[in-house]
Amino acid sequence: MNILLTGGAGYIGSHTAVALASAGYTPIILDNFCNSDKSVLKRLEKIIQKPVACVEGDVRNTSLVEKVLREHEINAVIHFAGLKAVGESVQKPIEYYANNVQGTISLLDAMRSANVKNLVFSSSATVYGDPQYLPIDEHHPLSATNAYGRSKLHIEEMLKDLAASDPAWKMMCLRYFNPVGAHQSGLIGEDPSGIPNNLMPFIQQVAVGKLPKLKIFGNDYDTIDGTGVRDYIHVMDLAEGHLAALSHLSKNPGWSTFNLGTGKGSSVLEMIAAFESSTGAKIAFEYVPRRAGDIASCYAAVDKAQAALSWSAKRTLEEMCASGHQWQNYRHSFV
Ligand code: NAD
Ligand code: WQD
Repeated sequence: MNILLTGGAGYIGSHTAVALASAGYTPIILDNFCNSDKSVLKRLEKIIQKPVACVEGDVRNTSLVEKVLREHEINAVIHFAGLKAVGESVQKPIEYYANNVQGTISLLDAMRSANVKNLVFSSSATVYGDPQYLPIDEHHPLSATNAYGRSKLHIEEMLKDLAASDPAWKMMCLRYFNPVGAHQSGLIGEDPSGIPNNLMPFIQQVAVGKLPKLKIFGNDYDTIDGTGVRDYIHVMDLAEGHLAALSHLSKNPGWSTFNLGTGKGSSVLEMIAAFESSTGAKIAFEYVPRRAGDIASCYAAVDKAQAALSWSAKRTLEEMCASGHQWQNYRHSFV
C-alpha cells in the first residue's frame, strides 16, 4: 500500500514514515519544507534502510498533488501538512487559514480528481477548547480559542460535510494530545526553529546547555503541584496509532474522530523529574506568571481508540524523555 504523507518531513510525519515502512507500507512524502529540513530524508533512509520518495511542493498546488497521487498510485493520504504554532496563528490568521484550511481544500480537490478517497487527518486536542470535564472524550463540546485551533475545527467540519456528500469517502480525524520524544535511533526528532514554545523541546535544550533555564508558566493551578497537567504521548506510539487508523479506515466508510493520547496527565514538575531521572541531566527552572490562554489540565479518554482501533500508547514518560534527550544531543552536535 502506498501512503502519501503531506508534511511527512516534519516531526510527526517523519516518525510515522518509519512506522509505516516497518509495517510494510510505502510512504511517499510531499512537503514544502517551510518547517523542516531536507536533511531529514537522508536520516529517514538510514533508519528505514530504503530510499524514501519525496516530492518538494505545497499542498495548495492542486495539480501537483493530483499528479503525485496518480504517479505514485496512492491508496490513502495522511495529512500532516500545516502550520501549528498557536501564538503565531493569533498574529497571522490569514497565513494559518490559507495554509491549513485552503491547503486541505486543495488536497481534497486533488484526491477527488484522482479518485483517492481515504484520508487520515492530523487534528488536535486543541479542538476541545477549555476542558469542561476530564478525561476528555470524543463527545466533549468543541470550541477554539485561537486561529490555529479554529483552522482544525473548520477542517474537521469540512471533512464531515464531504463524507456526508459521498459515501465513497473514508475519513478519520485523529486528535493528538501532546506528542513528545523521538525515534529510538536518535536520528530524527522535534526540531523547532528559534526558541521552543513547547515544554519538552525547551527542557531538551536546557539539558544540553543551549538554553539557561526553563520558565514554568504558573505554579498556582488547581493541580497536583500547581503546575499545568498534560497528556504527553511518545511520538512513536502516536505514529503507530496511524497504522491502526489506516487499518480501521479500510473497513469503515464515513467520518470519525479519535483521541490519540495515553489517558494519563503529568504536571510540568513531574516531567522535569522524569527527565532528570531518565537522563541524569539537571533542569534549572524558575516560576513565572501563567501563560495567556493556558489551561490547568488536559488529558484524553482513550477507550474509543482502544476498543475500535485496538491501539493504546505503551511507552513510558522515561522513554519519552530519554529518547528526546538522545535526539537533542545528536541535533546539538551539528548546529
Ligand atoms: P511540523 O511543523 O514538524 O510538520 C509539518 C510539516 O508540514 C513540515 O515539514 C512543513 O514543512 C510541512 N508543511 C507545512 N505547510 C505545508 C504546505 N502548505 N505544503 C506542504 N508542506 C507543508 O509539525 P508536526 O508537529 O509534525 O505536526 C504535524 C501535524 O500534526 C500538524 O497538522 C499539526 O497541526 C498537528 N498536530 C501537532 C501537534 C504537536 O504538538 N506537534 C499536536 C496536535 C496536532
Ligand atoms: C505544556 C505545559 C505549559 C513551555 C500546545 C498547543 C496544542 C498542541 C500541543 C498542536 C503547559 C507548560 C510550556 C514552557 C512551561 N499543538 N510550559 N514552560 O500548551 O499543552 O499545547 O502544543 O495542536 O494545540 O497549544 O503544550 O508544551 O506548550 O505546554 O511551563 O516554556 O508546559 O504552561 O502547562 P500545550 P506546551
